[in-house]
Amino acid sequence: MLRFIRLITLTLVLVLAGFWALAWFGRAPGEGVTEAFIRRLASFSGTDMPAPSAGGVQLAQVPLGGPYSLTDQTGRAVTEQTYAQGFSLIYFGFTFCPDVCPTELGVMASAMELLGADAARVTPIFITIDPERDTPAALADYVSRFDERLVGLTGTPEQIRQAARAFRVYFAKVTPPNSSQYLMDHSSLVYLTGPDGRVRQIFRAETGPEAMAASIRGQLRPRQS
Ligand code: NI
Repeated sequence: MLRFIRLITLTLVLVLAGFWALAWFGRAPGEGVTEAFIRRLASFSGTDMPAPSAGGVQLAQVPLGGPYSLTDQTGRAVTEQTYAQGFSLIYFGFTFCPDVCPTELGVMASAMELLGADAARVTPIFITIDPERDTPAALADYVSRFDERLVGLTGTPEQIRQAARAFRVYFAKVTPPNSSQYLMDHSSLVYLTGPDGRVRQIFRAETGPEAMAASIRGQLRPRQS
């Protein structure tokens, strides 16, 4: 019996090591070995897991994104349909954010630059999760500091809640001790949505502009299969 268990354990270890080796040699450029390992396992088990790619996680089946109904930085009422002619690069944050939001919006702006002519098919969008302070006028001033193409969206608290829910964005008001100003605690991911308003790709905070631009380009020009 003990021998049998040893044999089973050894087999499992060898199979996992095999997958790990496959992942190591078969990983895409820029892809971590862990992501490649998960991808291998997923393809083996047939699970419909998001296939990680350079600089982002590709989503095939997860219904994330849209619909939303908000107001842009010029005071115009917009919905996801307003930008439905192309792709949108969406980030949720707030203008009083000391570091995370400006950094991420900077990455988005750099990725737009790197896209060159392809950027014409992408609308970068900043959606505030702090509608109390982020009026259209405040957003207009803020977004213009990053990229003239960057759209700033706000709305009523309920509209913002609805939009955040559609993208599974977490946010909460926090007041640091000895401070009169509150801050917003929030999840920090960049979403690429397709013309159908659905999320095609998610970028984590560590994604650089080059990887982001490359992934967006991959979505704009899908490989023929
Ligand atoms: Ni922030």
